[in-house]
Amino acid sequence: MSVRKITANISGVGKALPEKRLTNADLEKMVDTSDAWISQRVGIKERRIAAPGEYTSHLAARAAAEALKMSGLTADQIDLILVGTSTPDTVYPSVACLVQKELGASHAGVLDISAACSGFVYGASLAWGMIKAGLMKHVLVIGAEVNSSIINWKDRDTCILFGDGAGAAIFSAHHSDTDGVLAMKLGGDGNYTDLLSLPNSGCRVFTDADGVQTGRFTTMQGNEVFKQAVRNMAECAVYVLDRAGLTSKEVDLLIPHQANTRIIDAVAKRLDLPSEKVFVNIANYGNTSAATIPIALCEAVEQGRLNTGDVLVIDAFGAGLTWGALVMRWV
Ligand code: COA
Repeated sequence: MSVRKITANISGVGKALPEKRLTNADLEKMVDTSDAWISQRVGIKERRIAAPGEYTSHLAARAAAEALKMSGLTADQIDLILVGTSTPDTVYPSVACLVQKELGASHAGVLDISAACSGFVYGASLAWGMIKAGLMKHVLVIGAEVNSSIINWKDRDTCILFGDGAGAAIFSAHHSDTDGVLAMKLGGDGNYTDLLSLPNSGCRVFTDADGVQTGRFTTMQGNEVFKQAVRNMAECAVYVLDRAGLTSKEVDLLIPHQANTRIIDAVAKRLDLPSEKVFVNIANYGNTSAATIPIALCEAVEQGRLNTGDVLVIDAFGAGLTWGALVMRWV
């Protein structure tokens, strides 16, 4: 008698977006930019901005509740809650802890993950590992951000790029040798910490030439980040496909981190993937950091873009540098 291996499938997805839309036309009134420049160079038309008093934990809990509803599970069946975020309400308690309270997930362990825009893929990989090891049955993974709280709204290099939102997916134990999660890879490179960072967000104080503490705003070297993103996302996707015994020709849907349509196009080109096999929704939400992939995953499900047997690759890149990819056959 053959015993099928334990892997993970996705039993529920959800998303939550603030109501307020900030369009490129709105940004034209705030900084020296234009709708034409943002549309052509980045691919964003608008992004969502959290209301005063609307925090990361609120968006995360809303997305999680939707995922839980779709899965048909009850909150007390969740074994672990992982939240990828760079904008927690507070460093402690964690966002995961606040979500646990909101859902009433009384049996769940709780942990926030600091991997910037790769946070959801890091969480998904950890979820797969716990399930594959037979230690857990249902892991709720969330990517949630209120990026508007760490943006310098006078800096056109960064303020046009980011938005707020949350997405969630529940990874559940699944007995199969052929479908569910097939392979993953996580990567990082601490030699490039200066390319994308959030000064004054921890115990280290950053000052200007006069010794005055500078702001707590995202700083970025856009061109270099761009090149690193394309190279690492493409290589990571190829690696996980190879580990799963697949080639990019067999991919039905790539859900890449939504940072810039030109980054997405360049990654797709390296993988030789036609545009209809690449999910892109950056025009509507901008870069919601750890939330881009789970929001896109939720919309891919809503739009019927994933069918049983499809090969799905999720592929992320972020500050750190961090990156990661995961391949699964949709159940
Ligand atoms: N509006 C209008 N013009 C702008 C602008 C803006 N918001 N930002 C920069 N420009 C100008 C520059 O001043 C420059 O002008 P110049 O040619 O007169 O000197 C020109 O546009 C080109 O600037 P450059 O920085 O070379 O543009 P780019 O093509 O590299 O695009 C980014 C800039 C930031 C959009 C792009 O580098 C990028 O997306 N990088 C990755 C960022 C990212 O994804 N970060 C998160 C990773 S998780």
